[in-house]
Amino acid sequence: MDARRIIEKLRDRNTLSPDELTWFAHGLASGVVTDAQAGAFAMAALLNGMSDPERVGLTLAMRDSGRVMTWDAPAPAIDKHSTGGIGDCVSLLLAPALAALGGFVPMVSGRGLGHTGGTLDKLEAIPGLKTEVSEDRFREIMAQTGFAIVSATGAIAPADKRLYAIRDVTGTVESIDLITASILSKKLAAGLEGLVLDVKCGSGAFMHTREEARALAQSLVTTANGAGCKTSALITDMNQPLCPWMGNALEIMAVMSAMTSGEVDNILCDLTCALGGELMVLSGMAEDADHAADAVRATLQDGSAAERFGDMIRAMGGPRDFVDHWRDRLPSAPVVRDVVAKDAGFVAQMDGHALGMAVVHLGGGRLKGGDTLDPAVGFSNFSMVGDHLGSGDLVATIHARSDADADRAEAAVRAAVILGETQPDALPLVYEKVTL
Ligand code: URA
Repeated sequence: MDARRIIEKLRDRNTLSPDELTWFAHGLASGVVTDAQAGAFAMAALLNGMSDPERVGLTLAMRDSGRVMTWDAPAPAIDKHSTGGIGDCVSLLLAPALAALGGFVPMVSGRGLGHTGGTLDKLEAIPGLKTEVSEDRFREIMAQTGFAIVSATGAIAPADKRLYAIRDVTGTVESIDLITASILSKKLAAGLEGLVLDVKCGSGAFMHTREEARALAQSLVTTANGAGCKTSALITDMNQPLCPWMGNALEIMAVMSAMTSGEVDNILCDLTCALGGELMVLSGMAEDADHAADAVRATLQDGSAAERFGDMIRAMGGPRDFVDHWRDRLPSAPVVRDVVAKDAGFVAQMDGHALGMAVVHLGGGRLKGGDTLDPAVGFSNFSMVGDHLGSGDLVATIHARSDADADRAEAAVRAAVILGETQPDALPLVYEKVTL
């Protein structure tokens, strides 16, 4: 086999066989396939698309380009994946909640991408905590706590690592087939048997319209099930932050507050419970998604999810007393400034992308690879769509490293939050469910 022949077949819309896709993925991992060939392959995939079997074949081939984990666990290995949003710290609530219910959740997570936050960056806001662990340590933590949130080692799906970097510079990131294979190859390499996908849609998501989100959800669900992992997806709203906190340590505060205050009546907890309910049914842990969602909520309310979270934090190098003293253990920013409304009105609309970028510019995300994050910066007390604000009422609180940074963030908030005279319709949380 050779790369040129495989690219020509994709270019001419001839079907690639599993063997050809396996050869290509291994060639990406080993370097036998050149950057030019990888770029041409990605462009042909973007322009011509792939059939369902080809997409499954590429996903499995990229999964098998590196280490594929298997588990000998008392329960099926399950996980959740979000396509990325703002104020979205669901994974940090859901994984310990499921573990408290007897689930087994080996969560290989990612870092912030573009304007969106990343679970690993948020966890690393906890002093001492390291998400880069060896596979042996990952297994030990799983055995102790039933869940662990770690970063992928270089051994996981190396073909994706190479192709992703090439897509990034060849205008081919948007290919739904390649996004699907990229996300799923890494998730499936963690040995999952059940997966729920949170496909976000709206101004703070990568997919802005319902149609785009549905196309991605269908591709992910068909491919994951075709690769042997029971999977369903919820298409959910991302036209406003999922909680009033945005930023790394600030979202850990949101999570700790939800797990220790007993106050679980908010959209962050509602989405956590909805996704958890789906996953428990998919994995055979429950028969009814609504009852299962209630069980997830109970673990957030009764302290059992917090206890599991504390176990994982200790095991990963964080403070031993984190659950009891999280307010004192998290870093805080030197400049804290309220943004208040100049006029009265209803919060009618938000530009989620601009708010995510405001967190990045405060130092909470990366503008280029290798940037060091500031864990303390971001926003708290953010208003939600539909809130009525009087003149002088709080829109949001900025946490910044300097007054100049706070000035820029204030301008971004004022431009991104649109007030109107009439109360807007409430935003739905879940638009639809996508199953096989
Ligand atoms: N996340 C991934 O891992 N890959 C993509 O292609 C897009 C998002």
